[in-house]
Amino acid sequence: MMMMMVLGINYMKSVVGVLMLITGRSHGLMFTCDARQNTTCYTALGHPVYLQLINVEQPQLSFTAGTQRIFNIKKNIITRQNLPPNWQFIISNWTLIINPVERKDTGTYRTESHDEYGKVVGINCLHLFIEAPVSSVTLNIACLPSSERRVTCSSSGDSPQYSWTLDGTPLGEGGTDVILKEEATGALTCTVTNNVSSVNKTQDLNPCRRPSTPQSTCPPQTAVSGTYNQDTDMNEPDQHHQSCGLLVFITVWLAEIIVLTSLWVGFYYLYTRNNRSQTIVRKCRSHTASGTSDES
Ligand SMILES: *[C@@H]1O[C@H](CO)[C@@H](O)[C@H](O)[C@H]1NC(C)=O
Ligand SMILES: *[C@@H]1O[C@H](CO)[C@@H](O)[C@H](O)[C@H]1NC(C)=O
Repeated sequence: MMMMMVLGINYMKSVVGVLMLITGRSHGLMFTCDARQNTTCYTALGHPVYLQLINVEQPQLSFTAGTQRIFNIKKNIITRQNLPPNWQFIISNWTLIINPVERKDTGTYRTESHDEYGKVVGINCLHLFIEAPVSSVTLNIACLPSSERRVTCSSSGDSPQYSWTLDGTPLGEGGTDVILKEEATGALTCTVTNNVSSVNKTQDLNPCRRPSTPQSTCPPQTAVSGTYNQDTDMNEPDQHHQSCGLLVFITVWLAEIIVLTSLWVGFYYLYTRNNRSQTIVRKCRSHTASGTSDES
């Protein structure tokens, strides 16, 4: 009867443990690992992990890492302890707490139960893996000359896996980069996941802004640069626009000068032809005048 109750409590504990593992993934990053059977557990670097060890009815239990004995339990008393400073064993509920988890805690651990003669009656292995949780996810959207956009997702953390959605619809492609067609718009989400965490980042995907000035008077955008960032594209199209305006201004100004010069030359020519005779008369007069002045 007592045995049944213990088993019942253990079953409840494992259910609680599983629930904690599931919720631990999203907030707080606290991990529970059921080490009462052969198992593999991933835990988050710098966060606590609760390892539930087998609650044996056997008189002896030893917990080892490779050949190194970490502790022994004999008749519910810890007999030999060699626990690292960040480790703690709670004998009342057979929970091993590692807080905070460090990289050096990665490893394979063995729980051996022995009978009263010291004979091994059960062994189970725990493979403990440590990963730095995903953090600081950033999205960078770059306009390509083809008006497509290359979106790059980056993050810190161990072994990140990338997945993408546009307005909630998964994009087939994975990886850190996706290329999106010119007409694709909406809320773009990059989700970065590893074995201990999942973080996402969403950004509105807008069409690339093209310069509004006529293409015929302006050099193509590609001559300025291959790509420009959607966040900072204010600068380049503005500069582009300004240089275009200057070009138009100079062209109009030159045209005006040419027209005015032609008009002026034309009028001058007509004026000189129509008044040639008068000019001759005037020249004669001036000769006479200068003659008289010379004489005086
Ligand atoms: C075991 O006991 C410790 C210390 O009281 C507690 O922090 C931990 O949550 C307990 N574990 C379980 C699985 O109940
Ligand atoms: C992004 O993460 C939040 C919680 O951080 C979650 O509520 C949301 O569903 C996630 N979105 C996607 C698209 O995964």
